[in-house]
Amino acid sequence: MPSPERHATLCSRNAHKARELEQLMPGWTIEPLEADGWPEETGATYVENARAKALFGREVLGGGHTLLGEDSGLEVDALGGRPGIGSARYAPEGAPAIAKLLGELSRVHDRTARYVCELVCLTPDGAEVRGSGTLAGRIADEPKGSEGFGYDPVFVPDGEERTVAELGDGWKERNSHRARAARALLAALGAALLLAGCGGANPVKGRVLRAFFNGGPVVRELGQRFPHKPGTRPCVLHDRRVTLQATCATDISLVNPARAVVTLTEAWNHGAQAHTWFFFIRRDGTVQSVIQEGAPAPKPSR
Ligand code: IMP
Repeated sequence: MPSPERHATLCSRNAHKARELEQLMPGWTIEPLEADGWPEETGATYVENARAKALFGREVLGGGHTLLGEDSGLEVDALGGRPGIGSARYAPEGAPAIAKLLGELSRVHDRTARYVCELVCLTPDGAEVRGSGTLAGRIADEPKGSEGFGYDPVFVPDGEERTVAELGDGWKERNSHRARAARALLAALGAALLLAGCGGANPVKGRVLRAFFNGGPVVRELGQRFPHKPGTRPCVLHDRRVTLQATCATDISLVNPARAVVTLTEAWNHGAQAHTWFFFIRRDGTVQSVIQEGAPAPKPSR
């Protein structure tokens, strides 16, 4: 079975999104897909469109790659959720789309809206891991600010007075729907490694982990799909010709019956500080939050 890589191809024409995701996924290298003949977005949901982009990447590059598909949009409550998955086709991006949106809302008092982002990751062995993120807010009366793109000049997040275009790219990196989706995706990938008992020789611990997650969506989707096996096999990360090996340890605390705290320490053979993840996981297998400390897995030199 192939090893998990931390090198992924983002199947999007938007190079800016690849750079944005690389910032959001520490330890990962994300490259945009260079291809012609992109398929139309015909899915009924963001997930279907994101998956179709990742599958197109697999057609172009072949198997054995980690492929990311992303789809996002703006949902306005007073418009019944439009433009939604049709956001990119609502009107030409930027001033024309904003003018059309403000026109439709000219006499509308309820301005509530949300950005939505879905990320679909296809791993080299064909498993699918997903992350979703939303950002709630309202549509302003007039455009303000110069950063971001799309509807950012008229989108004011909940708890803020300024538009996303005024709050800026740094704010977006921490708080956007895409940032939230990337964090959820990382958590799902991390949980998958944990569930597979990465490096742990202790069968009791492995049983506790599996029992805790038994029946949860994470274990159902991902539990058996990563190559890390208890005990005998080292954890390896391949990036083209370079291979890195880690010594990993997992531990689990079940002090609070409502959730587990799972700790994963990865000591990569790069001589730097070990990297530790703390996952707070609910009984149904969903991830409540994730904290990281130390140096993430290195990017192997080319
Ligand atoms: P996609 O490339 O099919 O995912 O299209 C997403 C569309 O949704 C973009 O063209 C924008 O109109 C809108 N959109 C998604 N994310 C953002 C964002 O972060 N800021 C502003 N507009 C966004």
